[in-house]
Formats: sequence, structure tokens, C-alpha cells
Amino acid sequence: MTDQHLLGVDIGGSGIKGAPVDLVEGRFAAERLRLKTPGRSTPEAVAELVGTIAEEFAGQLPADAPVGITVPAVVQHGTVRTAANIDEDWIGTDAETLFGDLLGRPVLVVNDADAAGAAEMHYGAGRGTDGVVLLTTLGTGIGTALFHGGELVPNTELGHLELDGHDAETRAANSAREDEDLSWQEWAARLQRYYRHVEDLFWPDLFIVGGGVSKKADKFLSELDLRTPIVPAQLRNDAGIIGAAWLAAHREGQA
Ligand code: BGC
Repeated sequence: MTDQHLLGVDIGGSGIKGAPVDLVEGRFAAERLRLKTPGRSTPEAVAELVGTIAEEFAGQLPADAPVGITVPAVVQHGTVRTAANIDEDWIGTDAETLFGDLLGRPVLVVNDADAAGAAEMHYGAGRGTDGVVLLTTLGTGIGTALFHGGELVPNTELGHLELDGHDAETRAANSAREDEDLSWQEWAARLQRYYRHVEDLFWPDLFIVGGGVSKKADKFLSELDLRTPIVPAQLRNDAGIIGAAWLAAHREGQA
């Protein structure tokens, strides 16, 4: 399966993005398609747009190829369990059945940060790191993906650790920096508090910082004083799509 192109789709708060992924190279095999997330991002409304993306690339994919799809939520065995930054109707939705019926293909649905982490571990900043690796995505929320020996421990949700009486992501996500108009230094102080707390609890060998803002890593990573090495993600916003496709191929391959 890995020598073929598989479709990855990343469902986010503002955009739904998809592209066929070349799993040998770990990159898009064609330019991605991005559609705007509907105002009310119910499962049905989102599924319709995922269908449009799948149709766009159908000609480039093997007929029975699985599809990997991310959602910004906890996903247990295909069912969405939380909805911090998406419509509440997702809670309890069997998303693998919903998308599988719609697309007529096997579908893997996975947490967005877990997918991004898988991509970084196989093609990006985590390649060859065997110990404990924690990827954090700094976006609307904070997503986390925990690996040990290259194996994912799914749904860690460490963006919701309580810090100083707050849900950590409401203070330290990139959206907090934008909404509160924080300087890079002010934001870095919040990140310092967050990453120090996480390293005290998990003792990782490596932090990887993803999300769109990781392309500006030079503005805030050097401000952090941590014992854990901390590096920017290499695949940035492509990581969710690439990781979803990789995980879908991996599960199929093992089935
Ligand atoms: C959600 C996570 C998600 C993260 C990034 C958090 O609010 O609880 O499931 O991975 O945002 O989108």
C-alpha cells in the first residue's frame, strides 16, 4: 500500500483540506484542495465537503484505497468523543461509519494532533528519535501527540491541562496570542509555563512544535528555558493530511 497515493483530509476550525499523499516521499502528490469550514460545522455539513474533496482526487487513487481523516477531537475506535473547537453534534458520532458510507472506501478517523505527530515521526522532526517524543500543535487550541519508541499513545489531550486555574490552551494556544494581541515575548512566557509543566510530568526526550505558527519558531522558541530539546515541526500545516494518510495505510497494512 505504501507505494501508492492515499487521500488524507484534515478537518479544522477554519478549513477542510485534502490531498493525495505520496507515502514514499511523505509529501503531497498533487496540490491540496482547501474548502472553508461551514459556519455550523455539523458532521453532515462537514461530510458533504469531505465528499467534494474525495471526488476531486478520485481519479488519482486506487479504487479500494483507504482514506485518513483528522478531526480536532478525541477519537476512540472511530467515534468522536469531544468537541472543544468544533460543533457539539460531533460528540458520539461514529465518524468512520459516516465517512466510510459516504466515500465507499475504508476510512480511518484520527485526532488532528495524533495525525500530525505520526507525520513528524515518520518524515519530519521526530525521525529516528526512539524515546519519548511529545508533539504539540499551537493553533486554535493546543493539540498533543505522545510517542514512545515510535508508537503513538492516542488522545493525550494535554492542551487541556489546568494551569493557574485555566484550561492551558485558552492561555497558550496561538489563538490566545492573536486574540489578546500578545507580543512574542509575552506569549513565550505563557509557553514557558506550559512546557515546563508538561516536561515535569512527562520527561520527554524531545518536544516538537507544530501548527502554522511553527514557521515563525525563531520568534519564540529561543525564549524558552527548558531541559528538553524543543524543535519546530518540519511538515507544518501539511502534517495532518500526511499523517492521516500514513495511519490509514498502516492500519490497512496490518489488517
Ligand atoms: C482538542 C484536541 C485537538 C486540539 C488541536 C483541542 O482543543 O481538544 O482534540 O487535538 O484542540 O486541534
